[in-house]
Amino acid sequence: MKRVDDFRLRLGKQELVPIMVGGMGVDISTSALSLEAARLGGIGHISDAMVPTVADRRFNTKYVKNKLQQYKFNVANTDKSVVQFDLDLLAEATKMHVGSTMEAKRGDGLIFINCMEKLTMNAPKDTLRVRMRAALDAGIDGITLAAGLHLGSFALIEDHPRFRDAKLGIIVSSLRALQLFLKKNARLNRLPDYVVVEGPLAGGHLGFGMDWAEYDLATIVAEIRDWLKAEQLDIPLIPAGGIFTGSDAVGFLEMGASAVQVATRFTVTHECGLPEKVQQEYFKASEDDIEVNQISPTGYPMRMIKHCPAIGDGIRPNCEAYGYLLDAKGSCAYIDAYNREVAAHPDARRVKVWDKTCLCTHMRNFDCWTCGHYTYRLKDTTRRNEDGTYRVLSAEHVFRDYQFSTDNAIALPE
Ligand SMILES: Cc1cc2nc3c(=O)[nH]c(=O)nc-3n(C[C@H](O)[C@H](O)[C@H](O)COP(=O)(O)O)c2cc1C
Repeated sequence: MKRVDDFRLRLGKQELVPIMVGGMGVDISTSALSLEAARLGGIGHISDAMVPTVADRRFNTKYVKNKLQQYKFNVANTDKSVVQFDLDLLAEATKMHVGSTMEAKRGDGLIFINCMEKLTMNAPKDTLRVRMRAALDAGIDGITLAAGLHLGSFALIEDHPRFRDAKLGIIVSSLRALQLFLKKNARLNRLPDYVVVEGPLAGGHLGFGMDWAEYDLATIVAEIRDWLKAEQLDIPLIPAGGIFTGSDAVGFLEMGASAVQVATRFTVTHECGLPEKVQQEYFKASEDDIEVNQISPTGYPMRMIKHCPAIGDGIRPNCEAYGYLLDAKGSCAYIDAYNREVAAHPDARRVKVWDKTCLCTHMRNFDCWTCGHYTYRLKDTTRRNEDGTYRVLSAEHVFRDYQFSTDNAIALPE
């Protein structure tokens, strides 16, 4: 029986272990996690979600405090259109996050940045352009375009000196989305270097509706693979979502995938950004504790652990400090939901908001426990400590388990 290590991912001149650790914002896929994946010969991701906040935590900068100071006058105002990101500071924070990660890189692997289009930041095009260009300037090996269709994203960097040398990939959940992307970008004469095909069992936002359960990753991968072949397009396919063991991965590699993208198994590693208390919640979760809901203001369904603090919380919108989900008009679906509840309960000290969540605040504080469908199997990947808690793993252990395991086995820590 084959194992993942019998395969290699070819990206240009590079040969890699075909394991890619997916981007997990906000700083759940940390620099440290991405560095381990690269050191072991695979691909790691950092995320550019809320980079100023992440920089504050990593480098003791004061981007959030200063922005809040600047826009404090607007805190009680429901119109957030004045709240803008300073593009120079955004570039500076991105370069710090990416640059320090790339400096620390060891080994033969690569480090990419996960860049979400849905982080519209009150000026979608300008902020996305700055984020992508700053990442390229700071030496990132590649950019994975996520959460959104990104039809115009390549064009935002087409005049960058690294446009053809950096690896550029997209995440899609259907053949149609891929076709649309290729059609819109045909004039640039630059295909994506890889396509991540994300199925309905993934963590984070889903590229499906609430009928996600009717879709199947292998079917979508086969459809895209056959279409690419018919069109004579040679683009590596990287399935993602619910690939829990090395054998699951081998199944996809044998059907023609070039690598796999995985994330959930790495949420319970030391290198992952989730605080250990939250990691224990991931370990403890049973299948019934996990739901796909519609509380993300982005409009995409999201999978999460049902009892996480983000669900039902009615915090005042924090757009002056954060504001990453403000659209081009300065609106966010959470602001509307919050204002509606405040109007309905004028005497409440703190309202409850069930239909939307303040994703910026809760992702920033690790209070929105987004997770993959198979999170309920994490307890089977480790041992218990004497006090009943689960033992957090090393990223190397999980990576090597994917790389070398056979027969659907999962190696427990020593
Ligand atoms: C905690 C968590 C956060 C995630 N955040 C993001 C994100 O910010 N951007 C993104 O494109 N995908 C995100 N994902 C999806 C992963 O990158 C990956 O494609 C997917 O979860 C793989 O499936 P698996 O978790 O079953 O291995 C996230 C997944 C998890 C588990």
